[in-house]
Order: sequence, then C-alpha cells, then structure tokens
Amino acid sequence: MRIMIIGADGQLGTDLVRTLEGDLVPLTHADVEISDHSSIEAVMLEHKPQLIINTAAYHQVDLAEDNPEPAFVTNTIGARNLALTCAEHDIDLFHVSTDYVFGGDKREPYSETDLPGPLNVYGTSKLAGENFVRALAPRSYVARTTGLFGIAGSREGRSNFVETMLRLAGQGRDINVVADQYVSPTYTYDLALAIGQLITTRKYGTYHITNSGYCSWFEMAIELFRITKLTPNINSITTTEFGAKANRPLYSVLSNNALERAGVPPLRTWREGLESYLTERGLHAG
Ligand SMILES: NC(=O)c1ccc[n+]([C@@H]2O[C@H](COP(=O)([O-])OP(=O)(O)OC[C@H]3O[C@@H](n4cnc5c(N)ncnc54)[C@H](OP(=O)(O)O)[C@@H]3O)[C@@H](O)[C@H]2O)c1
Repeated sequence: MRIMIIGADGQLGTDLVRTLEGDLVPLTHADVEISDHSSIEAVMLEHKPQLIINTAAYHQVDLAEDNPEPAFVTNTIGARNLALTCAEHDIDLFHVSTDYVFGGDKREPYSETDLPGPLNVYGTSKLAGENFVRALAPRSYVARTTGLFGIAGSREGRSNFVETMLRLAGQGRDINVVADQYVSPTYTYDLALAIGQLITTRKYGTYHITNSGYCSWFEMAIELFRITKLTPNINSITTTEFGAKANRPLYSVLSNNALERAGVPPLRTWREGLESYLTERGLHAG
C-alpha cells in the first residue's frame, strides 16, 4: 500500500515513518500545506497514495485563545481539504485528533460515543476538523490521542512535556507541575504501531488510541525523574494556580474499547512507554 504521511518530521510522523510497512511517502510542511487545497491535490497527483495519514496540527493551545485563526486554518480547513481530496479520489484517510475535544467532567474514561464539549479554541478547531472528515470522507478513521511524547520532540526547536521537564531540571530551577489534570501520556512509537495495525483492518470510524493507564502531569514528572535519577525541586500545583491562558479538561482519559473491538491489542502502559523513550534518549539511569 502506498501511504502518504503528512507531518512526517513531527513526533507522530517520525515514528510512523520508522514503523509502518509499505511504500511510504513522507511529507513535511515544506512539501505540502494542508490549508491550501491545491497543494494537497498536487502531492496527491504526484504520488497517487492509497492512504493519507494526517498528523499535521496547529497545537499552540494557549496562543490560539487570542488568535484562533491559525488553529482553524490547519486543524479545520486543512482536515476538510484532505477529506475532500480523499473522497474525490477514493483514498483512505487516517486523521489524528485529540482528547481536548472533551470537557473533562467525567471521572471514568471517555468512550468514542461520548458527547464532545471542548473548553478551548484548539479543541474546538480539532472537533470541527474531525466532523469534516467524518462527514466528507466515507473511508476514514479519526483517532483521538493524548499527551504525546516522541523522539522528534527532543530535536532543536521542538518539545514535549518530558523535554520541558528535562530542560527545567537542567537549569536547576524549581519546577511547578499541575497535579489535577489527568491524562494517559502516550509514546508516539506505540501509537504508530497501533495505527499500523488499525489501517490493515479497513474498519473505518472513530477511535481512541493511548497508552494504558493514566496519571496527572505531576505524577508523570515524578516518574520521569525517578527513571532518570534526576533530583530537581518539584512542586505540585493546581490548574488554577498554574494560570494558563486556555482552559483544559481536568480529566481526559480515553477508553480504547473501539480499538480492541477492531482486533488491535491494548497499548502497553504509559510508564513502559516513558521508560522506552528515556532509554532511547540515553537517559534511563536504571
Ligand atoms: N502533542 C500532543 O501532546 C498531542 C496530544 C493529543 C493529540 N495530538 C494530535 O496528534 C497529532 C500529532 O501531534 P504531534 O505532537 O506529532 O505534532 P508535531 O510534532 O507538531 O508534528 C506536526 C507536523 O505537522 C506539520 N504541520 C503543521 N501544520 C501544517 C500544515 N498546515 N500543513 C502541513 N504540515 C503541517 C508540522 O510541521 P512544522 O512544525 O514544520 O510546521 C509538523 O511536522 C496532531 O493532530 C495533534 O493535534 C497531539
């Protein structure tokens, strides 16, 4: 199968390129601009993929509150453009979305059929993108995931939660981490493996795909410093105390039931994913 990967140098894109089998066409932002329909048509005509995987997103969650346009341009219009192209040319579409489509009122994992209720501009723009994909592209998958960390996040100019913690620890600063937001941190390598399995099923629809288990961001930070044997001063604070511009769900753990029903085994735990990530970074002190 010829698979076009959009966002190929991002966190998830990098691990899709590392793990997927097939005839891969990895495209970076320099190769395609998904908010421009003609740009998508051009790469589609050149490479003639059978499947397009869209990992591209604008995810500056706080900046988007005051300046929503870039979020809607990439996350909504970009998704719509891809869906239109895939529908017109009979191409399968795999679109990646987020736990931030949910409001966070539940205290048990969100299922694929739970009603979304985004709290911020980013989540709203991603939900609108999902809706375009479901409405326009009959052969499509929408996969929501949470708290990604992938090796590309350690590259110059990129980041993720783990890298932010490591950087702050390296600067010898006190670190304040929110302890009242619960997620399932997910290693993009594990997510990429699951996507590789799901796309062979041709069972289109909406899926949640995360590492197993969940934690608060504070608990994740504690775990990563345990594994690396780093000893910064770390304080647990509340979301209100942190005072980010954008509202975020306090609980956005996702049940992966649809994935299991499709025959894809559950992903390993986020702790195991984190250990592998830190091993790959050469920082596992165990
Ligand atoms: N990161 C998280 O914690 C998280 C959590 C839940 C869900 N997600 C979702 O998971 C997906 C993958 O996230 P990620 O962390 O792998 O993202 P990432 O590392 O930022 O990678 C995104 C890639 O898409 C490219 N891109 C951005 N805008 C584009 C556009 N308009 N046209 C073409 N390419 C564009 C970026 O290139 P440039 O950087 O060069 O612009 C980058 O290569 C996204 O859909 C995101 O919404 C992420």
